[in-house]
Amino acid sequence: MTDELTPKKVRTSTLRDFKVAGQKFSCLTSYDHLTAGIFDEAGIEVLLVGDSAADNALGYSSTLPITVDEMIPFARAVASAAKRALVVVDMPFGSYEVSADSALENGIRILKESSAHAVKIEGGSRVAAQIAALTAAGVPVMAHLGFTPQSVNQLGGFKVQGRGEAAEALLADALAVEAAGAFALVLELVPAPIAAEITAKLSIPTIGIGAGNSTDGQILVWTDFAGLTSQKPRKFVRRYANLREVLSSAAKAYRSDVQSSQFPSPDESFSE
Ligand code: KIV
Repeated sequence: MTDELTPKKVRTSTLRDFKVAGQKFSCLTSYDHLTAGIFDEAGIEVLLVGDSAADNALGYSSTLPITVDEMIPFARAVASAAKRALVVVDMPFGSYEVSADSALENGIRILKESSAHAVKIEGGSRVAAQIAALTAAGVPVMAHLGFTPQSVNQLGGFKVQGRGEAAEALLADALAVEAAGAFALVLELVPAPIAAEITAKLSIPTIGIGAGNSTDGQILVWTDFAGLTSQKPRKFVRRYANLREVLSSAAKAYRSDVQSSQFPSPDESFSE
């Protein structure tokens, strides 16, 4: 890791510098102040306040129901903890598709009320006008292509995108979001060779999730990477911890100590 490439503050331009220098970077989702502080201190370059907060924090069955009003407190909590990381906030489903004006209104509101640094929107040429309007107004935009969770109903489920003839359309969309002014592009569930080709053809950095290891950066949903979720991890997820087991054992030990009057001890109590 080259020191001059690890500045005090990660900015959108830093990610481009990383790409030029061939230095890979890491991104995690985060929805709260404590995890954001831990990830920031660990050197994670980008914290994404993903709309995956919908299922991970709010218990919704997909990302579709979450609103701008619900996203802002998560974004504020993460932004206030991040001393170095770039904080990007997902614009929720319905907050940008209708027009460039609605994207502008909601994008500005998200940055203004959360102090985050950028927004992320899903889609290619169909949202190019929104990307152009946001970037012209000073709101940096990360784009998201491949499997786009907000379009799960249209895509017919959680499926790899861009296979076979669809690869050409995916590349065209990637070029369209770059031309519109996006500063980075998330590629989700894309065959590794296609993600490699897009990465080589774009000058903005690509960030992969289920897109092989040729993208400029990687992103994981933090509850997956830390093993907090109960479901079997998907093929592209690597679990770096088993927090579910750790927390469950701690909760059981605490309950047992309370039942047996082992907690609190005299040391953990106040005298008169
Ligand atoms: O909301 C999210 O967690 C995301 C990642 C999957 C990239 O958009």
